[in-house]
Formats: sequence, C-alpha cells, structure tokens
Amino acid sequence: MIDTQPQSHVETQWWKTFYDDVAMVVLADQDPDTIRGQVDTITRLTGLSPGQSAMDQCCGLGQHACELASRGVGVIGVDQSALYIDHARQLARQRQVAAEFMVADALMYQHDRPVDVVYNWHSSFGYSPDDAWNQKMLHAAQQSLAAGGTMLLEFPNMLHLLAHFRTSIRSTHPDGVSLTRTSRISASTGTLHQVWEYHKEDRPVRTHESTLRIYLPDQLIQMFRNIGFVNVRAVSPCGDTLTDDSPRCIIVGRNPLDE
Ligand SMILES: C[S@@+](CC[C@H](N)C(=O)[O-])C[C@H]1O[C@@H](n2cnc3c(N)ncnc32)[C@H](O)[C@@H]1O
Repeated sequence: MIDTQPQSHVETQWWKTFYDDVAMVVLADQDPDTIRGQVDTITRLTGLSPGQSAMDQCCGLGQHACELASRGVGVIGVDQSALYIDHARQLARQRQVAAEFMVADALMYQHDRPVDVVYNWHSSFGYSPDDAWNQKMLHAAQQSLAAGGTMLLEFPNMLHLLAHFRTSIRSTHPDGVSLTRTSRISASTGTLHQVWEYHKEDRPVRTHESTLRIYLPDQLIQMFRNIGFVNVRAVSPCGDTLTDDSPRCIIVGRNPLDE
C-alpha cells in the first residue's frame, strides 16, 4: 500500500520506546544457530581473528557480540536501551566471555580505542526520513575504526522487499506472544512505516510503530563512499553475490589506510 500523505510521526524517535517493550521477545527469539552463522559471515567478510577488536553498533541483546567474544575477539557492544545492555551483560556473564557493553546513542558514540571492525546488524540503521541524520551513524562508525578497518551494515534488500511487498504478516513467539505487522510505504518521505500489534493470551493488544528509510543497495553504497569508505560493495546475507532473490543485503566498506 502506498500512501502519499506527509507523516508527522516520522519526526518522533520511535525506537526509544519500541525496543524496550515486546520487541525484546522477537529479538530474544533469534535462533542461536542463525546467530552463529551470521558471526561466521562477519568474520569471513572482515578477516577478523582472535586478538582483534570489533564494535557491535546497536548490539541489541548482545547475542552477536557474545558469540564473537567467545571466538577470542575483543568486542564492545553499544545500544541505546539500558534494558538490552543489562541483558547483554548477563549473557556475557553466563557465557563467560569478556564482551563489554555500554548504553550510548550510536549516532554519536565513537569508541576511544580504534577497532578493526564495526558491524551494524539487523535493520539498526535508517530510522529517520532525514538522510543526514542517518548518515551520522556511519560517520560515528568510521570514526571508531582503525585505518584499514572494515564496516559492515546489514539491512533489508529493499529491491526484494518492494518486489514482494506484503501488507500484513503474522508470527508467533515464546510465552504466548503473537505479532501482527502491518506495512505501508510513504511516498512523501520514502519510508517504510510499520504498525506492530502484540497479543499475549487474553491481555489487551499493545501497538507500536516503526519507520525505516527505503535505501536501495546502490544508495547505501553511495552513502558509504560519501563518508569516505573505499572498496565498497553489496553482498548477500551469506557474503556471496547479491541477487534480486536476497531478502537482505550487507554493505561492506573499508576505512582507507593512513597515507
Ligand atoms: C532490530 S534491533 C537489532 C539488534 C541487534 N543488532 C541484533 O541483530 O539482534 C535494533 C537495535 O538498535 C538499537 N538502536 C536503535 N537506534 C539506536 C541508536 N541511535 N543508538 C543506539 N542503539 C540504537 C535498538 O535499541 C535495538 O537494540
């Protein structure tokens, strides 16, 4: 469904409340094998090895960061949600890994010790219709990277999403939670607007809204280049050639080496 009316809600920072509520159920429900496979892809695309360092920008519950730390990589995870950072620290304790976690705004946060890799995973980017605002996240990542370090951005392949657009999707999760997600596109702001309705047994339905800027892979590549990344390319979720059949994509860019 395409809507041409200007949207006022896109100016609100929806993520400040969205993630602290039932969105956690969806993130916690991620399959550990899938997380391990994604961390395999991160290490393959970047060449990360034990003893090196990485920053998980918008780390959520810390599953990727803890998996990477269990492989000997020094990881700092950053997220705006204090609740998620508490969970991430608990997970690190449970798994006995040395990942560090910090509550911070990833649009601004620059790590003081340059890292070899920054990764931003699972649609944690493009939350505003304003390109300059979104670009701040990539700039902060670049400022945290060592010369020659690699940046990965995992994002929906919007070509695939638009070609297979579904207005409504229902899914079920542990603890009796079911989720109905209704999507529409705002042509006036170039954003994907989603309404998430959570049902838990007999409790009243809770509703949240989210907004994602529609960036095609080539637009993300251009944004990386504008920031100053080199050797920029888009690959599939497994790190292979990106095709129209890929529902998601990863943008890979390298920080230039010092002259
Ligand atoms: C879809 S979740 C993905 C979490 C994690 N990367 C994963 O793959 O499981 C998006 C995350 O981005 C975080 N986030 C969104 N905007 C942020 C910001 N400006 N600064 C820090 N974290 C942010 C949210 O709190 C949430 O944890």
